[in-house]
Amino acid sequence: MTYRARLFAALAAGLIAAPGLAAADEQPVAPYTVSDANAGAAPIPGDAVYRALHERDGIERIVIDLLDRARADPRIADIFKASDMERLNRTLTEQICYISGGPCHYTGRDMKTAHHDLGLQNADLNALVEDLQLAMNDEKVAFHDQNRLLAKLAPMQPAVVQRR
Ligand code: HEM
Repeated sequence: MTYRARLFAALAAGLIAAPGLAAADEQPVAPYTVSDANAGAAPIPGDAVYRALHERDGIERIVIDLLDRARADPRIADIFKASDMERLNRTLTEQICYISGGPCHYTGRDMKTAHHDLGLQNADLNALVEDLQLAMNDEKVAFHDQNRLLAKLAPMQPAVVQRR
């Protein structure tokens, strides 16, 4: 068997996690070009913020907590009702890992494409940021490190929000 054939066989058998390939339980989305540039921000230099978030495991806990809070938050819960939470969980984890300086790549869509059908307002963004702060508090991330991540997300506002 060639290397390529062995690789495909291993992938099919689930022996290798394939970054960038959607998990089986995700819904398909329209084709797009995969690029770290889609994350909407360059990584924070160094790995101090990534470590402050407790690395990949901590970021996974933060994203699960954030999405639980958002779906229970009466201000924004309805916005998530029709969404593929498996995909959102995976791509958001990749995005925060990448932007915080971790050894990850972002494989999701750019922020404008991902949000353009949602009609989001600034109030929705403020609510989500508050839920993220609560999730980071639960993970015991220091305020200073929380703010370094939030400073990277704030400039995405024009791409995410359509109505002010
Ligand atoms: C800077 C702020 C934000 C970031 C970094 C962000 C990040 C992301 C990412 C990575 C995705 C997935 C992209 C993909 O599927 O390829 C996504 C989708 C989504 N986001 Fe955001 N988001 C932000 C703001 C918001 C806000 C304020 C809301 C609502 C309160 C929201 C609701 C959603 C929903 C519902 C989806 C799924 C859309 C679908 O099902 O196609 N996002 N976001």
